[in-house]
Parts: sequence; structure tokens; C-alpha cells
Amino acid sequence: MFERLERYGYDVSQHRLLDPASGGAAFLVPAARRLLDQLKRQGLSGEAVVERARELLAGVEIEPGLARLSEMLLADVFDAELRAADQDSLRVVNRANGLKISGSEQFGAVISNPPYGRVFRASRATIARWQSVITDGHVNTYALFIAAALEQARAGGLVAVIVPTSFMSGPYFAGLREYILATSEVLEINIVEKRSEVFLDVVQDTCVLIMRKRGVGAIVDWQPPTTMVVTAGKSRPLGCADLPVSGRRAWGLPTASDEAELPLFDDRLSDLWEWGYQARSGYFVWNRSRARLTERSTPLAGEVPLIWANNIQPNARIELQTRKGGTTASKGQISCVTLPAGSSALIRGPAIVLQRTTNRSQKRRIVAGLVDAEAANRFGGFVTENHTIVVLPRMDTSQLVPIQTVLQLLNSSVLDAQYRRLSGTVSVSTKVLQRMGLPPAKLLLRHLDAGKDEDTALRLAYREALS
Ligand SMILES: C[S@@+](CC[C@H](N)C(=O)[O-])C[C@H]1O[C@@H](n2cnc3c(N)ncnc32)[C@H](O)[C@@H]1O
Repeated sequence: MFERLERYGYDVSQHRLLDPASGGAAFLVPAARRLLDQLKRQGLSGEAVVERARELLAGVEIEPGLARLSEMLLADVFDAELRAADQDSLRVVNRANGLKISGSEQFGAVISNPPYGRVFRASRATIARWQSVITDGHVNTYALFIAAALEQARAGGLVAVIVPTSFMSGPYFAGLREYILATSEVLEINIVEKRSEVFLDVVQDTCVLIMRKRGVGAIVDWQPPTTMVVTAGKSRPLGCADLPVSGRRAWGLPTASDEAELPLFDDRLSDLWEWGYQARSGYFVWNRSRARLTERSTPLAGEVPLIWANNIQPNARIELQTRKGGTTASKGQISCVTLPAGSSALIRGPAIVLQRTTNRSQKRRIVAGLVDAEAANRFGGFVTENHTIVVLPRMDTSQLVPIQTVLQLLNSSVLDAQYRRLSGTVSVSTKVLQRMGLPPAKLLLRHLDAGKDEDTALRLAYREALS
């Protein structure tokens, strides 16, 4: 991250640096080492080095123990200089709330790996303060920290944050996307490919986002950012992301495939909803309701079959059976769930069921199978587990594309690549799936009826939609 910041003009010996959630000083210590190196080369005395370091480095950390630890680690770096100045610590890490820093536009660079996580029941004051980055009442700490970092950067200053990739396409981050584009130029989005090599405990996909704060009234030439994949410090260019100049729409990630130039966002495109389908998340969380789950050859009254994510194969009919690969798999048996009468979770007709999370090494992000009419009706309906997404025919309208065709299209390479451009995460989002731009049904069906395969028909219809 420091190398990137330096590439865009950050100079550790000139520009004030802030980490508003500085933890164990994982960023402040390397910054301190770089700074010390440079100040020594300038031939400054120990006392002058300490004074300059105090002007240039700043951390804020809410946990007193971590704030103290950071001071100790920084004191180690400046050991000789502090001794020469007859002092015991640098006192640059403030034990405080990084979202309540007074003043603004004070720093040449802000670098941070902020806390992630949804804030439930946020106070009115928090909502009012961070309104511009809160969408539909959904408050996520990292969105607030991105806004705080941009506030603290001076005009032309740089901001580098490690944050989940969910903000790039998630509907709840529309306000954050708009805020970022309004206040900064996005310079780079670096997707962290092998998260286990970088973090020990982070379960979300993350990226290093680098932005430059816009100057007041300055017109900055907008350049689409380069996106890289980072693996243990090495990166590989992926191409350019598809970002709007302003506004709330999702950001498109680049793809290495032929699909790079297909449209992702355009009013002339359609979507699953318009085709007559709705997507919803799987209902049953088995490890929270073990008592409701059994195995039998035939469900009893009040029970329905359960569909598991790992029984889904692309384009295949999904069988009613027990969970594959699990310890409970047994032949001829069906996983059954007791369902309250009249439950809206019950699915009575044929439906497409997708895996909700895939792993990075898996070739496809979209893996969709079909529960056909026979399986759906055999025991009066079914439910699916929470690691699935169900695509159902809408009851309030007719279907413009037959369900079997939708299944094949969802499993096509083109839609898989289009989805990947919309979301850098390994989990499929119900909302993103339902809103993903698709060619109008009529155009697409014409090519399919003429005998084209799904990928060819999609490519042709996407292009035609805009012509
Ligand atoms: C993901 S850690 C990263 C810390 C640091 N970059 C590191 O690697 O050591 C986030 C840190 O933010 C701190 N934190 C959480 N909420 C905060 C707040 N409102 N203000 C300041 N720090 C906060 C946590 O205590 C934690 O140390």
C-alpha cells in the first residue's frame, strides 16, 4: 500500500499521515521506519527527528491496550532518537473514536484497515452525521470509515483502505459509491485474491482501494482505474473497471474474457425480474434448527423435502435426497424439514436453485440446477437451505423466457463473466442477480430459436440491445 501511495505522490517525509483505526500499528510502524530512514539521511538530530515524526504521523485507536501497544512499537523504531531527546514515547496515537476526529482536510494521506461490520440500531446522531454514506438505513462501519478518511484527507491527498469488496455492487452501498465518486478520483482497486495469505480471520473478500481527494472546484480528468489481483505481494493487471462518472450504480469489475466489452448497465437492458422471475434467498438454516431436520424415505405430514447447496450441479435436475458429502448422506433417504402450515418459505412449483457461495478456485461463480415440476410436486412443495438462492417464476406476471432456458442461460459462460464483473465476492447476491442487466427477452429468444447456443445468443442479443 505504501508503494502504491508513493507512486501517486505521497512522501512520508513531507505529508502528514493518519490511520483512523490504527490497531497494533500495522501501518504506522512501517511508515515510521520509512520516515526515520529519510530523516536520518537528511542529517537531522535525534530531537528534530522526534519533533518531525510527531508532526507527520498520527493514529487513532479506540482500544486503550492497542493504543498503548502502538506507542511502544513506535518507541522501538525511534529508540535512539527518543533517548537523545530524553523522552519515552512519541505520543502520536490518540486513544479515541476514529469517527469523531475534530477538524477536516488535515492529512496528505490516510491509510487504514478499518473495522467491518453492520451497526444495528445506530443512534440518530450517527445516522444524521453519516447520512451521505448510509443507504436504506443500512449502516456499515467500513462505509463510515471510508467517508471519515476522505474527510480527513486534504484536497489532492491520498486515501488507501483495505475494505470488503461488497460496496462495489451491494445495493446498501449505493450512497457510499456516490459519495466516493463525488469526493474523490478512484485510482486503483486491488482485489485481494488469496485472503487467507493476508488475513487470519477475515471472512469477506477484500480489496485495497486507492483514491485521491478532489480539490474544491477542481476539474480532474477521470480515468478508469486499473484493477489488479494481489497474491502475497505480487499483482497482476486485470484491466480497467467500469465505473460510472458519478451516481449510485454498481461498479463493474474487469474480466479477462471476451465479455469485457458487453454492456453491464444500460436502460435498454432487461433483467430477471422483467423476464418474469424473482430471486430470493434460501430459507432453512440447518444448524440453527437441527430439531426440525430429519431423514426419511417419505416426508411425514407437516414436513417437506429440503434442497442442499452441495447437491446442485450446473444445468442438472436436482434430486430430492440427503446432503451429499455430509456425514448424514444415506441412500434412498430425503432430508425433511418441518414447516409451519402456510409458511411463505414453501415453494410449490419448479424453481432454479443456485449455490450462494462458491470458492475462488471454482471456475464458475453461478452454479444453477433445477427442481423440476415432478420433484416440486411429489410431496407438495419443498424448501431450500440458506446457502442457496432460488429463482422462481413470479405469480403476478407471465414468464417471457421459459424456466429451462433461464437455467441454461444462468449456467452460460457469458452470464457467469457478467456476474463476476458486477461482484468481486465469492458469494452470489440475490439482489445483484435479480438486477443484473440481461438482453431483452425477445432479442435473445430470436437467436436461441434460430439454433444459436446460449453464449452466442447472449453476445449477439447484448450487442443488439444497444444498437
Ligand atoms: C481491522 S483492525 C486494523 C488495525 C490495524 N490496521 C492493524 O493491522 O493493526 C481495526 C481496528 O480498529 C479499531 N476500532 C474499531 N472501532 C474504532 C473506532 N470507532 N475508532 C477507532 N478505532 C476503532 C479496532 O480496535 C481495531 O484495532
